[in-house]
Amino acid sequence: MRVGVLESETDFAGWRRAARAFRLAGTPPADAAFRVGEGGGGLFDEAPPVGDGGAQFPVPRAFVELAEAVILHRSEDRFDLLYRLLWRLGREPDLLRVLSDRDVADALERAKNVSRASHKMKAFVRFRLSEEEGAEHWISWFEPAHRVLERTAPFFARRFATMRWSILTPDGAAHWDGDRLSFGPPATRDMAPAEDEIEDFWKTYYASTFNPARLKTRTMRGEMPKRYWANLPEASLIPDLVASAATRSEAMIATPAPEPNARLAKTLSRLNRDRAFEEGFTPSSLEELGQAVQACRRCPLWRDATQGVCGQGARKARLMIVGEQPGDHEDLSGRPFVGPAGQVLDAALAEAGIDRDDAFVTNAVKHFKHVPRGKRRIHQTPTTSEVTACRWWLDAERALVRPRVILSLGGTAALGVLGQKPAVTRMRGQALALPDATALLTIHPSYLLRLPDPEAAARERERFFADLKMVQRLL
Ligand code: URA
Repeated sequence: MRVGVLESETDFAGWRRAARAFRLAGTPPADAAFRVGEGGGGLFDEAPPVGDGGAQFPVPRAFVELAEAVILHRSEDRFDLLYRLLWRLGREPDLLRVLSDRDVADALERAKNVSRASHKMKAFVRFRLSEEEGAEHWISWFEPAHRVLERTAPFFARRFATMRWSILTPDGAAHWDGDRLSFGPPATRDMAPAEDEIEDFWKTYYASTFNPARLKTRTMRGEMPKRYWANLPEASLIPDLVASAATRSEAMIATPAPEPNARLAKTLSRLNRDRAFEEGFTPSSLEELGQAVQACRRCPLWRDATQGVCGQGARKARLMIVGEQPGDHEDLSGRPFVGPAGQVLDAALAEAGIDRDDAFVTNAVKHFKHVPRGKRRIHQTPTTSEVTACRWWLDAERALVRPRVILSLGGTAALGVLGQKPAVTRMRGQALALPDATALLTIHPSYLLRLPDPEAAARERERFFADLKMVQRLL
């Protein structure tokens, strides 16, 4: 028996080096083994990387992708399974197409489990606020079903780019300092804060949309497997909610708004004064559009906003999601849907199986309309003329991204998307053929949070979910 020694449970490069060397040496799967740990005296900790000697053999790209996923599976025998496949590919180059083959089916199933674990991580990581020397640090404790931390962490770096955060897991920790992603050793649950005020946000969201009368425990377990409950603030409510419909959510506890970034606001307003907005200008890229919106004077909303917030996401997305306007967090960070409403949207999309990264997320209005109340900035609904003025930017985004489907969230978004005020409740759920895309109107996710009647809230949540499913079908 020859042994390939890997540095860690997810050491794909190490496995690949050892497996190549095994195959080049003609070592059959029965005589090859892999183990994780130091040294070990195995043949292949000394073996030169394949390629140095020029010895190569072709491996389909699909196999490499499959192996990169399967190696993250928690099963002990995954290295052997992958080597068996690699060995067989030498004689059966089309092996991966034979879906009835046991090894192929087994590997595909494990890759699916890994992908599901990554998906659940995107949906169920909940950050809690911890203050360190006056600086905010968002920390989450999470126990992924498979070893998907490194694969999934870049998603959080993109999504929560302006927050300093750490995701702690039993396999390792991911840290984002606002600039760089790094990884550290395994952590324990007690290293993460137990509770914070955001907790109440999730609890309120869940409680207000949970309907015991319509409870389907099997479906619920499928969507929100029990293994994740320990780390979900809202899961602590489930037993009580199931047992009794009496207790109901209070109003959502809003996170106190942080101070507006006064320095940035000043710089931008000076910049804007110097750079008159040119009529007749057509942005040729999303970057150009993002810069140009900072000089927009089409309506007065720019005055009180920190900055204009344009859409973000896949440049050639098939799906464009249009919200109302940036909120407090979006205004400060310059990114759409990154505050509490963004978390609700993310959770709903994840639940419906839509990857937000494949979509382009934007708003009908690009500046945050608000009034000050003490230290907080309170959202104001934009007027029809403000939305109409801002359609110029939304149209420019549509022309650049050219989505096939536009999901419009709420009345303001519908006005921006259609150019007229439709009755969202009447037109909801219909695929509307527009010259450039198919539009689907639905409610704004924050509406779900405001419904006081739990039955109505649960019904609305199901309808929202059905709308998202329809988006998937249209795509
Ligand atoms: N609500 C919206 O409609 N858009 C955002 O970007 C954030 C909150």
